[in-house]
Amino acid sequence: MPQDIDDIAFEFYGALSKAIPDVQQSIWSLLQLADKEFIPALSSRQGPKDTVLDHKNAATKSLPVDYFHEMSKQPVVVARLNGKVAGFMSYKTDYEVPETSEKVHAYVSTIIVNPAVRGRKMTARLYQRLFDLLRNNAQEYPILITTRTWSTNINHLTILRRLGFECIFIGKDGRGMGIDTVVYRLKLDRT
Ligand SMILES: CC(C)(COP(=O)(O)OP(=O)(O)OC[C@H]1O[C@@H](n2cnc3c(N)ncnc32)[C@H](O)[C@@H]1OP(=O)(O)O)[C@@H](O)C(=O)NCCC(=O)NCCS
Repeated sequence: MPQDIDDIAFEFYGALSKAIPDVQQSIWSLLQLADKEFIPALSSRQGPKDTVLDHKNAATKSLPVDYFHEMSKQPVVVARLNGKVAGFMSYKTDYEVPETSEKVHAYVSTIIVNPAVRGRKMTARLYQRLFDLLRNNAQEYPILITTRTWSTNINHLTILRRLGFECIFIGKDGRGMGIDTVVYRLKLDRT
Protein backbone atom coordinates (compact mmCIF):
# COMPACT_ATOMS: atom_id res chain seq x y z
CA MET A 1 0.00 0.00 0.00
CA PRO A 2 1.67 3.30 -1.05
CA GLN A 3 2.35 5.72 1.77
CA ASP A 4 0.84 9.17 1.73
CA ILE A 5 2.68 11.48 -0.68
CA ASP A 6 3.08 14.03 2.14
CA ASP A 7 5.84 11.79 3.54
CA ILE A 8 8.02 12.99 0.66
CA ALA A 9 10.52 15.81 1.21
CA PHE A 10 12.78 17.48 -1.35
CA GLU A 11 16.33 18.86 -1.35
CA PHE A 12 18.30 20.77 -3.95
CA TYR A 13 22.06 20.77 -4.59
CA GLY A 14 23.75 23.09 -7.11
CA ALA A 15 25.97 20.15 -8.10
CA LEU A 16 25.80 16.50 -7.10
CA SER A 17 29.48 16.68 -6.11
CA LYS A 18 28.53 19.25 -3.43
CA ALA A 19 25.77 17.09 -1.96
CA ILE A 20 26.16 15.45 1.44
CA PRO A 21 27.77 11.96 1.34
CA ASP A 22 24.45 10.21 2.07
CA VAL A 23 22.92 11.76 -1.06
CA GLN A 24 25.93 10.97 -3.28
CA GLN A 25 26.03 7.38 -2.05
CA SER A 26 22.27 6.92 -2.49
CA ILE A 27 22.33 8.31 -6.02
CA TRP A 28 25.21 6.03 -6.90
CA SER A 29 23.14 3.10 -5.60
CA LEU A 30 20.08 4.21 -7.58
CA LEU A 31 22.16 4.47 -10.77
CA GLN A 32 23.30 0.89 -10.31
CA LEU A 33 19.80 -0.30 -9.44
CA ALA A 34 18.19 1.24 -12.53
CA ASP A 35 21.18 0.91 -14.89
CA LYS A 36 19.70 -1.72 -17.18
CA GLU A 37 16.24 -0.12 -17.27
CA PHE A 38 17.72 2.61 -19.45
CA ILE A 39 18.06 2.05 -23.18
CA PRO A 40 20.97 1.88 -23.68
CA ALA A 41 22.16 1.01 -20.15
CA LEU A 42 23.76 3.92 -18.28
CA SER A 43 26.91 1.84 -17.78
CA SER A 44 27.42 1.85 -21.55
CA ARG A 45 27.32 5.65 -21.78
CA GLN A 46 30.01 8.21 -21.12
CA GLY A 47 27.58 10.48 -19.34
CA PRO A 48 24.30 12.41 -19.54
CA LYS A 49 25.96 14.68 -22.12
CA ASP A 50 26.21 11.83 -24.62
CA THR A 51 24.63 13.26 -27.73
CA VAL A 52 24.77 10.10 -29.81
CA LEU A 53 23.46 7.02 -28.07
CA ASP A 54 24.91 4.26 -30.15
CA HIS A 55 23.00 1.21 -28.99
CA LYS A 56 24.80 -1.09 -31.45
CA ASN A 57 28.32 -0.25 -30.36
CA ALA A 58 27.58 0.43 -26.72
CA ALA A 59 30.53 -0.52 -24.54
CA THR A 60 29.78 -3.19 -22.00
CA LYS A 61 30.96 -1.92 -18.65
CA SER A 62 29.57 -3.34 -15.47
CA LEU A 63 29.06 -0.08 -13.55
CA PRO A 64 27.86 3.38 -14.59
CA VAL A 65 31.04 5.04 -13.27
CA ASP A 66 31.54 7.46 -16.18
CA TYR A 67 27.89 8.40 -16.08
CA PHE A 68 28.04 9.17 -12.34
CA HIS A 69 31.22 11.18 -12.79
CA GLU A 70 29.68 13.30 -15.54
CA MET A 71 26.48 13.75 -13.55
CA SER A 72 28.43 15.00 -10.52
CA LYS A 73 28.76 18.42 -12.15
CA GLN A 74 25.02 18.82 -12.58
CA PRO A 75 22.39 20.31 -10.25
CA VAL A 76 20.20 17.70 -8.62
CA VAL A 77 16.78 17.63 -6.94
CA VAL A 78 16.48 14.81 -4.43
CA ALA A 79 13.29 13.23 -3.06
CA ARG A 80 13.29 11.55 0.33
CA LEU A 81 10.59 9.18 1.49
CA ASN A 82 10.47 8.83 5.26
CA GLY A 83 13.97 10.29 5.47
CA LYS A 84 15.55 7.95 2.91
CA VAL A 85 16.67 9.08 -0.54
CA ALA A 86 14.10 7.52 -2.86
CA GLY A 87 14.59 9.33 -6.13
CA PHE A 88 16.33 12.19 -7.90
CA MET A 89 16.39 14.36 -10.99
CA SER A 90 19.58 15.82 -12.49
CA TYR A 91 19.64 18.54 -15.10
CA LYS A 92 21.75 20.98 -17.03
CA THR A 93 21.10 24.68 -17.39
CA ASP A 94 21.49 26.83 -20.52
CA TYR A 95 21.86 23.85 -22.77
CA GLU A 96 21.73 23.55 -26.54
CA VAL A 97 19.67 20.52 -27.49
CA PRO A 98 21.71 18.68 -30.14
CA GLU A 99 18.69 17.24 -31.93
CA THR A 100 17.01 20.62 -32.46
CA SER A 101 19.86 23.12 -31.91
CA GLU A 102 17.51 24.98 -29.59
CA LYS A 103 18.93 26.73 -26.52
CA VAL A 104 16.88 25.84 -23.45
CA HIS A 105 16.96 26.99 -19.84
CA ALA A 106 16.99 23.44 -18.46
CA TYR A 107 17.61 20.00 -19.86
CA VAL A 108 16.59 17.13 -17.59
CA SER A 109 19.28 14.49 -18.02
CA THR A 110 18.38 11.75 -15.53
CA ILE A 111 15.48 10.75 -13.31
CA ILE A 112 15.35 7.61 -11.23
CA VAL A 113 12.87 6.53 -8.57
CA ASN A 114 13.74 3.46 -6.53
CA PRO A 115 11.65 0.59 -7.98
CA ALA A 116 10.51 -0.31 -4.46
CA VAL A 117 8.70 3.01 -4.03
CA ARG A 118 7.42 3.85 -7.51
CA GLY A 119 3.80 4.76 -8.14
CA ARG A 120 3.69 7.74 -5.75
CA LYS A 121 3.89 10.43 -8.45
CA MET A 122 7.39 11.25 -7.21
CA THR A 123 8.64 12.17 -10.68
CA ALA A 124 5.80 14.62 -11.26
CA ARG A 125 6.67 16.24 -7.95
CA LEU A 126 10.38 16.37 -8.83
CA TYR A 127 9.38 18.21 -12.01
CA GLN A 128 7.23 20.62 -9.97
CA ARG A 129 10.25 21.34 -7.75
CA LEU A 130 12.34 22.02 -10.82
CA PHE A 131 9.67 24.39 -12.13
CA ASP A 132 9.71 26.29 -8.80
CA LEU A 133 13.51 26.55 -8.86
CA LEU A 134 13.56 27.79 -12.44
CA ARG A 135 10.76 30.31 -11.84
CA ASN A 136 12.61 31.66 -8.80
CA ASN A 137 15.64 32.45 -10.99
CA ALA A 138 13.81 33.30 -14.20
CA GLN A 139 14.88 36.32 -16.17
CA GLU A 140 12.56 35.66 -19.06
CA TYR A 141 9.45 33.70 -19.96
CA PRO A 142 8.54 31.22 -21.19
CA ILE A 143 11.14 29.01 -19.53
CA LEU A 144 12.11 26.24 -21.93
CA ILE A 145 12.62 22.79 -20.41
CA THR A 146 13.47 19.71 -22.43
CA THR A 147 14.24 16.10 -21.80
CA ARG A 148 15.16 13.16 -23.96
CA THR A 149 13.91 9.65 -23.49
CA TRP A 150 12.93 6.61 -25.52
CA SER A 151 9.58 5.79 -27.10
CA THR A 152 8.88 2.70 -24.98
CA ASN A 153 9.42 4.49 -21.66
CA ILE A 154 5.67 4.70 -20.99
CA ASN A 155 6.01 5.72 -17.34
CA HIS A 156 8.13 8.75 -18.16
CA LEU A 157 6.13 9.66 -21.28
CA THR A 158 2.83 9.50 -19.38
CA ILE A 159 4.19 11.89 -16.75
CA LEU A 160 5.66 14.28 -19.35
CA ARG A 161 2.43 14.52 -21.35
CA ARG A 162 0.40 15.12 -18.19
CA LEU A 163 2.71 17.98 -17.25
CA GLY A 164 2.16 19.54 -20.68
CA PHE A 165 5.40 18.54 -22.42
CA GLU A 166 5.16 18.15 -26.20
CA CYS A 167 7.21 15.94 -28.46
CA ILE A 168 9.50 18.07 -30.65
CA PHE A 169 11.80 15.42 -32.10
CA ILE A 170 11.63 11.73 -32.98
CA GLY A 171 14.81 9.89 -33.88
CA LYS A 172 13.50 6.75 -35.53
CA ASP A 173 15.05 3.54 -34.14
CA GLY A 174 17.54 5.72 -32.24
CA ARG A 175 17.73 3.19 -29.39
CA GLY A 176 17.32 0.01 -31.44
CA MET A 177 14.84 -1.48 -33.88
CA GLY A 178 11.38 -0.09 -33.03
CA ILE A 179 12.64 2.08 -30.17
CA ASP A 180 12.86 5.76 -31.05
CA THR A 181 14.74 8.54 -29.31
CA VAL A 182 12.23 11.23 -28.40
CA VAL A 183 12.77 14.81 -27.21
CA TYR A 184 10.03 16.55 -25.24
CA ARG A 185 9.76 20.27 -24.47
CA LEU A 186 7.69 22.34 -22.08
CA LYS A 187 7.23 26.11 -22.32
CA LEU A 188 6.77 27.12 -18.70
CA ASP A 189 4.99 30.38 -17.99
CA ARG A 190 5.09 32.64 -14.94
CA THR A 191 2.20 30.82 -13.25
C1 LIG B 1 10.23 6.97 -14.88
C2 LIG B 1 10.21 6.80 -13.37
C3 LIG B 1 11.20 7.79 -12.73
C4 LIG B 1 8.79 7.09 -12.86
O1 LIG B 1 8.67 6.71 -11.50
P1 LIG B 1 7.43 7.24 -10.59
O2 LIG B 1 7.60 8.67 -10.27
O3 LIG B 1 7.28 6.31 -9.45
O4 LIG B 1 6.23 7.12 -11.62
P2 LIG B 1 4.71 6.89 -11.29
O5 LIG B 1 4.43 5.42 -11.17
O6 LIG B 1 4.30 7.75 -10.14
O7 LIG B 1 4.02 7.45 -12.62
C5 LIG B 1 3.98 6.72 -13.80
C6 LIG B 1 2.62 6.93 -14.39
O8 LIG B 1 2.55 6.31 -15.69
C7 LIG B 1 1.37 5.56 -15.74
N1 LIG B 1 1.48 4.50 -16.71
C8 LIG B 1 2.38 3.48 -16.75
N2 LIG B 1 2.14 2.70 -17.80
C9 LIG B 1 1.06 3.21 -18.42
C10 LIG B 1 0.32 2.83 -19.56
N3 LIG B 1 0.66 1.76 -20.28
N4 LIG B 1 -0.72 3.59 -19.94
C11 LIG B 1 -1.06 4.68 -19.24
N5 LIG B 1 -0.39 5.09 -18.13
C12 LIG B 1 0.64 4.35 -17.74
C13 LIG B 1 1.21 5.03 -14.34
O9 LIG B 1 -0.10 4.55 -14.10
C14 LIG B 1 1.53 6.28 -13.55
O10 LIG B 1 0.45 7.16 -13.52
P3 LIG B 1 -0.47 7.28 -12.19
O11 LIG B 1 0.40 7.90 -11.14
O12 LIG B 1 -1.58 8.16 -12.57
O13 LIG B 1 -0.90 5.88 -11.85
C15 LIG B 1 10.60 5.35 -12.94
O14 LIG B 1 9.77 4.45 -13.64
C16 LIG B 1 12.06 5.02 -13.17
O15 LIG B 1 12.92 5.32 -12.34
N6 LIG B 1 12.35 4.39 -14.34
C17 LIG B 1 13.72 4.01 -14.71
C18 LIG B 1 14.54 5.23 -15.12
C19 LIG B 1 13.86 6.06 -16.18
O16 LIG B 1 13.26 5.55 -17.11
N7 LIG B 1 13.99 7.40 -16.04
C20 LIG B 1 13.42 8.34 -17.00
C21 LIG B 1 14.31 8.56 -18.16
S1 LIG B 1 15.65 9.65 -17.72
